[in-house]
Amino acid sequence: MPKLSVFKSLTFSLCLLPLGYAIYQVYQLQTGGTHVLGADPAKALVLFQGEWTIRFLLLSLLVTPIRRLTGWNQLQKVRRMLGLFTFAYASTHLLAYLFLLLELDFGNLGADILKRPYITVGFVAYLLMVPLALTSNSFAIRRLKSRWALLHRLVYGVAVLGVVHVTWLARSSYSEAIAYGVIVAILLLSRVFKDQLVLFRQALKRPV
Ligand code: HEM
Repeated sequence: MPKLSVFKSLTFSLCLLPLGYAIYQVYQLQTGGTHVLGADPAKALVLFQGEWTIRFLLLSLLVTPIRRLTGWNQLQKVRRMLGLFTFAYASTHLLAYLFLLLELDFGNLGADILKRPYITVGFVAYLLMVPLALTSNSFAIRRLKSRWALLHRLVYGVAVLGVVHVTWLARSSYSEAIAYGVIVAILLLSRVFKDQLVLFRQALKRPV
C-alpha cells in the first residue's frame, strides 16, 4: 500500500491529466499542430470538460461503496479531492460554454437557460455543487456537524441532474446517458444497502 502522501499526490497528478490534455490540444490547434478537436473545436472542448465533470463526479461517489466493499480505508482520504476536482472540471465546462459557445453574450445566456432544458438542468446541477464545494473543508465539517452529511447528500441530486442533462442533449445515441444512469442507480442502491456491503465483505473474509 503506497504511503498516504504519495497516494494523494499521485491522485492529484492523475486528476490534472485531462485538463493538461485539453490545454495541449488547444496549444496544438493554435500552433497549427495535429489535434483531435475536429471541425468544431469550441464544441469539442465543452463536451470534453463535460465528460470529465461527470466522470469525476461518479468517481467521487464510488469511493465510499468501494471502501465499504473492500475495506481499503485509504481511499476515503482522496474523496474530498475528487469532489473538488469535479467542481473544478464543472467550472471549466461552464467557462468553455460561456467563452467559446456563447462568446460571452449574456443576453443569450438567459434565453439558453429558459429555452434549452438541458442547459437549465446543467445550471441547476452546477449551482447545487457550489455549497458542496464551499463546505468541503474541515472548518465547515466541524461547524455544520450532522447537518454537513445532510447537505452533502445533495451530491446524489447533482448526479441525477447530470444524467438528465446528458440524456436531454443526446442526439443520435443514448448509450452514454444509459451507462451513466446505470452507474448512478447502482450508487444510489449501494447507499441504501450500505450495511449489507460491509456484511458482505466480512462474510467473504470469514473462514469456512
Ligand atoms: C454549468 C452549467 C452547464 C452548462 C451551461 C452546460 C452546457 C453544456 C453544453 C452546451 C454541452 C454541449 C451540448 C452539445 O452537444 O451541443 C454540454 C455537454 C455535456 N455536459 Fe454540460 N453543462 C452544464 C453542467 C454540467 C454538469 C453539472 C455536468 C455533469 C454533472 C455536465 C456534463 C456534461 C456532459 C457529460 C456533456 C457531454 C455529453 C455528450 O458527450 O454528449 N454538464 N454541457
